[in-house]
Amino acid sequence: MVRAFVFDAYGTLYDVQSVADITDTAFPGYGEIITQVWRMKQLEYSWLRSMMQDYRDFRTVTRQSLAYTLDVLGLKATERLFDDIADAYNRLHPYPDAEEALAALGGCHLAILSNGSPGMLAALVGNSSLKRHIATVISVDSRGVFKPDPRAYGLVEAHMGLKPEEIVFVSSNGFDVCGAKRFGFRVARIERVRPEALRHEITQMQAVRPATLFKMLRTQQEMLGHQPDFVISSLKELADLPVLA
Ligand code: LAC
Repeated sequence: MVRAFVFDAYGTLYDVQSVADITDTAFPGYGEIITQVWRMKQLEYSWLRSMMQDYRDFRTVTRQSLAYTLDVLGLKATERLFDDIADAYNRLHPYPDAEEALAALGGCHLAILSNGSPGMLAALVGNSSLKRHIATVISVDSRGVFKPDPRAYGLVEAHMGLKPEEIVFVSSNGFDVCGAKRFGFRVARIERVRPEALRHEITQMQAVRPATLFKMLRTQQEMLGHQPDFVISSLKELADLPVLA
């Protein structure tokens, strides 16, 4: 019996691409490349930190990956501009389908399990219209390790007292889908970018753009052998999953 839906935050409920406005205003013409390299490095640094057993919270990971991104592009930001860009992760826009989807799941316990630091998540959720629907926000921070390490997913049971099979874990991040499935959750993957649409996009280009490369690397089903239970194209389809019948 499913008792709760637990959501990934960045990329699943909140659109990481929504930092593109601020990155492009800060460095006109560079918004797209900064946005993509920054997010890819941010995830890479979270995995590296877990593997090196050298945890720093996601705020530090976010800032260090932004510093890497600007440096590799030869861009310089004042301290104030750097802070403004980094803080954009606290003001990401929810996906347009998120609020209606969460409202439709009203009878279930709704939670977030995220790599975000407690402060980042408090700001992100608090700044958004989704806060009235989310009963529990769990940061991996107390375990000092990032998803997809199983110790991070174990926080759900520790906080909510529910067994993995009582949870539907929802993510559109490929690595997170695999990690959650390997841990034992039922997993719904939100397929925001259809493979056919992505292939079509690639064939239309002479050179692959940074945003398309990001879609190729971060939005598709990983081939690690841990398949989600459900693949849906929108958060709104969660209300129709057979687990709720
Ligand atoms: C999160 C990132 C990994 O919210 O998407 O945990």
